[in-house]
Amino acid sequence: MRRWLLEPHVRRWWDDGVHDPYPDAELDHYRDAIRGLDRTYRYVAWLGDRPIGMLQHYLIDDHSDYARTLALGERAVGVDLFIGEADLIGRGHGPAMLRQFLRDVALPFHGTNVCVIGPTAGNKSAIRAYEKAGFKRLREVRVPGEPEPELLLRMTRSDLDTRVDDR
Ligand SMILES: CC(C)(COP(=O)(O)OP(=O)(O)OC[C@H]1O[C@@H](n2cnc3c(N)ncnc32)[C@H](O)[C@@H]1OP(=O)(O)O)[C@@H](O)C(=O)NCCC(=O)NCCS
Repeated sequence: MRRWLLEPHVRRWWDDGVHDPYPDAELDHYRDAIRGLDRTYRYVAWLGDRPIGMLQHYLIDDHSDYARTLALGERAVGVDLFIGEADLIGRGHGPAMLRQFLRDVALPFHGTNVCVIGPTAGNKSAIRAYEKAGFKRLREVRVPGEPEPELLLRMTRSDLDTRVDDR
């Protein structure tokens, strides 16, 4: 991953400090994914010919500690994303990317109709963006090892389909 994608807006929410070079242990997650060793599937988001961010999806049940913490009681896909370009934050791209990613990639990939996303509870703009995309709040969750609780939000395939405003 190119380092500039993390600056400066992501650093606020990816608060593992500033490192140069980026720590090998963290990069190993990405190397494993590229080698197909990690059941988290990562994608670069392009706007025209410009790489602007990243999205990932995974089956919650493939990550047993996290699955135990969430205790969803249903088969669900987890997704995460960020936009890494300062001039493209806050312009409505996030909800549009997320809806397209769910419809065309993440839900069909896992053959499931339920998706959850867990921004840090204090990340008001991300929560607002996900609600605009159609997610509904479930509850706050304390994830062991994480400094702040996350707010768990959920969306189903029918929530996705009942909206017609996709660009
Ligand atoms: C989170 C992210 C993907 C959202 O995408 P986006 O395209 O920026 O989102 P949008 O522009 O559609 O919406 C942002 C909303 O938050 C609102 N907002 C901004 N700051 C806010 C605040 N402090 N409190 C409440 N709402 C806020 C904006 O007004 C906007 O809502 P509106 O359209 O009703 O005015 C993107 O901002 C991002 O990548 N941020 C940096 C990394 C990150 O936080 N990733 C998420 C980790 S879970």
